[in-house]
Amino acid sequence: NMEENTGSCFTEEQEALVVKSWNAIKNNSEDLSLKFFKRIFEIAPPAKQLFSFLRDSNVPLEQNPKLKPHAMSVFLMTCESAVQLRKAGKVTVSESNLKKLGATHFKSGVKDEHFEVTKQVLLETIKEALPEMWSPAMENAWGEAHDQLANAIKAEMKKAD
Ligand code: HEM
Repeated sequence: NMEENTGSCFTEEQEALVVKSWNAIKNNSEDLSLKFFKRIFEIAPPAKQLFSFLRDSNVPLEQNPKLKPHAMSVFLMTCESAVQLRKAGKVTVSESNLKKLGATHFKSGVKDEHFEVTKQVLLETIKEALPEMWSPAMENAWGEAHDQLANAIKAEMKKAD
């Protein structure tokens, strides 16, 4: 069935594009995290209110120590999702982790539209960090890995609803 295959056929080449670009930028996590969040809040200012540690804080964004872990989770888990997709044809985040992710995002008031914003910013941030390496195929591979992961989290959020 062609239709069923289009979403789930993640190739070795796509995995390699994601892993290669992640390896090229991951040591620059400080800069990446800050750019990622600044851009998200430029596009969607109210999203700031979703984060408990931003809502209750007067510390400037730059100096908030809790931003980096979330940003890095998004990058790292998307990269891991690419590896899982190639190996298993689907996202294989453990059931308990996925449940927790679903519950946390649901409880925080995250909506499907937020995932569109973070996706766009994720792709932009990598592109800006790697202008020479970036390509439509690379964008597509990251995008696909992100969407499959985001869909798994969103499905858990609906169950938590
Ligand atoms: C918490 C990952 C997308 C907002 C977390 C945590 C992880 C994570 C690992 C902390 C673990 C936990 O408490 O369960 C991801 C991944 C994403 C994603 C991998 C996409 C692929 C988003 C989006 C938003 C968002 C789109 C909204 C703009 C939050 C908030 C928290 C959170 C508000 C709780 C932070 C707090 O108040 O302490 N996320 N996330 N996440 N995430 Fe995400």
